[in-house]
Amino acid sequence: MRHTDYVIAPSILSANFAALGEEVANVIASGADWIHFDVMDNHYVPNLTIGPLVCEAIRPCTIAPIDVHLMVKPVDRIIPDFVKAGANIITFHPEASEHVDRSLSLIRDGGCQAGLVFNPATPLDYMDYVLDKIDVVLLMSVNPGFGGQKFIPGTLVKAKQARAKLDAYERESGRRIRLEIDGGVNATNIAEIARAGVDAFVAGSAVYGAGKNSDPHRYDSIIGALRGELLAVGCP
Ligand code: DX5
Ligand code: ZN
Repeated sequence: MRHTDYVIAPSILSANFAALGEEVANVIASGADWIHFDVMDNHYVPNLTIGPLVCEAIRPCTIAPIDVHLMVKPVDRIIPDFVKAGANIITFHPEASEHVDRSLSLIRDGGCQAGLVFNPATPLDYMDYVLDKIDVVLLMSVNPGFGGQKFIPGTLVKAKQARAKLDAYERESGRRIRLEIDGGVNATNIAEIARAGVDAFVAGSAVYGAGKNSDPHRYDSIIGALRGELLAVGCP
């Protein structure tokens, strides 16, 4: 992993879609680790975004992992399309899949890392019997569907509970599962979120909203600020 073991994953939901390739390359050049790719279907969530064709189009723009967050129902039909489109990590909401274990296997059989996403009110128990098939747990700190919402503070307690489950699993299996957070993350709250046990941070509006000029290095200072806050917290 580059920089530290913390992952910063800008969400391209808040990027300039007319220049998406550059937007992807620029955040990685500024020190981001993953590209977070939000897929919404106007059915599971009340918004419509991008699909496998766009994933395929941005794939040559970076060697950084593409972290596909599926907010679609059903999930299984579309998973192989994202595998083919070059995704590295694919996460989905367990409520959107009739067969969570099967969906996880579909992702891993395609050679990608797999993860479950927990809405603010979704209990963490969904992960209990499938930890061996999970590489990432993604906690929503807003209700899914839109960028630019406010961080829900109760997510910090939930993050500590999730971290405890994942640490217990690591002690028994030797395998570390990442804990990622998505929604309302910025330079003011990222340290507190890291202290709750999170080690991967999605940030959409905080990153892309900070780069309004045309300088290719316009994201250096925001990603530097996020990274600086994490360095002050220490290792995950
Ligand atoms: C919301 C998406 C998020 C969103 C985060 O449903 O999953 O990834 O882009 O945006 P910010 O960081 O603006 O809350
Ligand atoms: Zn997301």
